Amino acid sequence: MKVSNRISELPPYLFAEIDRRIEEKRDQGIDVINFGVGDPDLPTPAHIVKVLCEEAYDPSNHRYPSYQGMRRFREAVAAWMEGRFGITADPDREVLALIGSKEGIAHFPMAFMDPGDFTLIPNPSYPVYRTATTFCGGIPVEMPLREEDGFLPVLSSISGSTWHKVKLLFVNYPNNPTASVADHGFFEELVHYARKHEVVLVHDNAYSEITYNGYSAPSLLEVNGAMETAIEFHSLSKTYNMTGWRIGFAVGGKDIIAPFAKVKENVDSGVFNAVQLAAVAALEGPQDCVRDNIAVYQRRRDILLEALRSIGWEVPTPQATLYVWMKVPRGYDSHSFTGELLERAAIVVAPGSAYGSYGEGYIRFSLTLPDQRLLEGVDRIKRAFS
Ligand SMILES: Cc1ncc(COP(=O)(O)O)c(C=O)c1O
Repeated sequence: MKVSNRISELPPYLFAEIDRRIEEKRDQGIDVINFGVGDPDLPTPAHIVKVLCEEAYDPSNHRYPSYQGMRRFREAVAAWMEGRFGITADPDREVLALIGSKEGIAHFPMAFMDPGDFTLIPNPSYPVYRTATTFCGGIPVEMPLREEDGFLPVLSSISGSTWHKVKLLFVNYPNNPTASVADHGFFEELVHYARKHEVVLVHDNAYSEITYNGYSAPSLLEVNGAMETAIEFHSLSKTYNMTGWRIGFAVGGKDIIAPFAKVKENVDSGVFNAVQLAAVAALEGPQDCVRDNIAVYQRRRDILLEALRSIGWEVPTPQATLYVWMKVPRGYDSHSFTGELLERAAIVVAPGSAYGSYGEGYIRFSLTLPDQRLLEGVDRIKRAFS
C-alpha cells in the first residue's frame, strides 16, 4: 500500500528520539518530569463547565451545529474583539467558529492555495503552518527568526520574485516557541507589505491573553486596513484551560472568511453547540479566572528563571506565552543539551531544533506542570548543573 506523497514527505518526527529515551528512563523506574508539553495543567473554570453540563441536556443542542458557528457564539466573539482590541467585526460575515485554532489554521490554506503557490512561514514555528501548506501542494518559504531581530522576520529581506508567488504569510505573536512579542509597528509593516503584494496575512494569536507584568498583546486587526488583508486565529485553549474542548475562532475580512467557510462546510460540521455556549460563558463571564491563571504561570516562570540564572545560564524574561526559551550552554546543541537534561536530571524539555533549523541552539521549557512538579524539576536541575 503506497501512502500519499503528502504523508510520506512529512518531515521526520523530531521528538521520536527523545520519546524513546523517556520510555527507556521510565522502564528503569526513573521518574521523568516533563517540561516539554504546552498543555495547561489547571482545570477549566467551574462556571464554564457548568454551562456545558446544562446545555448538554438540551436536545436542541444534539443535532448538527451550524457550519459557521451559532450566532450567539459569533456575537460573543465580536463583542470580545471589540472590548479587548477595539475592533469591529460583523458576526455574520467576519467571524467563524473553529474546532480549535489548529483545525482552522490547518484548513485555511485550502481557501487560497493552489499547487506551487508559496507561503511565508517563520522558522522556528508551530509546525502546522508548514504542513498545512504542503498538504495543499504549496511551497513553504522560511522567514528566519533571529534573536538579534527580536525573533521577528525581516520583511525587507524577502525578494520581489518571492513576494510575487506568495499567497499567505503566517505569523504568531506572542510567539511559540520563542516567547517573543510583536508591537503595533511591526504589524503595520506587515499590512503594508501584504497590501503591496496582495498577500493574505494569517496571524495566529493563540497566546494573546497569556501575558505578564502588565504587557497586553495587540491584535494584527487593530492596524488600519488589516481587516481587508488578514485573518486572525484565536483560541480558548490556553486562555481558559480548554485545550481538550476544541474551540477557537477566526476573525477577518468578509472576502477572506467566505472562501474559508466554504472549505469548512465541505470538511467538518461545526462545533457541538453546548461547547459553543460554554465558550460564550468564558468570553462574557468574569475574567478573574484568566488573571488567576496568569498569576500562577508568572510565579512558575519566575521560579524557573531564578533557578536557571543561579546556575549561570542566560535566559531572557518572557513577556508572554507559556514558555521560557533559552540558549543552550556553550558546547551543546539543542539535541545534545536536551539529552543531557534527561540523563543528569530526568528532565524533558523541547529541543528548539524541533521547530525549525533557526531554533537550533535553543531549548523550550513549558510552564504547564503542577507547582509541585515544577519545584521538584527546578531542584533537580540546580542539583545536577550548579
Ligand atoms: C502557536 C499555536 N497556535 C495554535 C495552537 C493550537 O491551539 P488550539 O488548536 O488548541 O486552539 C497552538 C497549540 O499549542 C499553538 O502553540
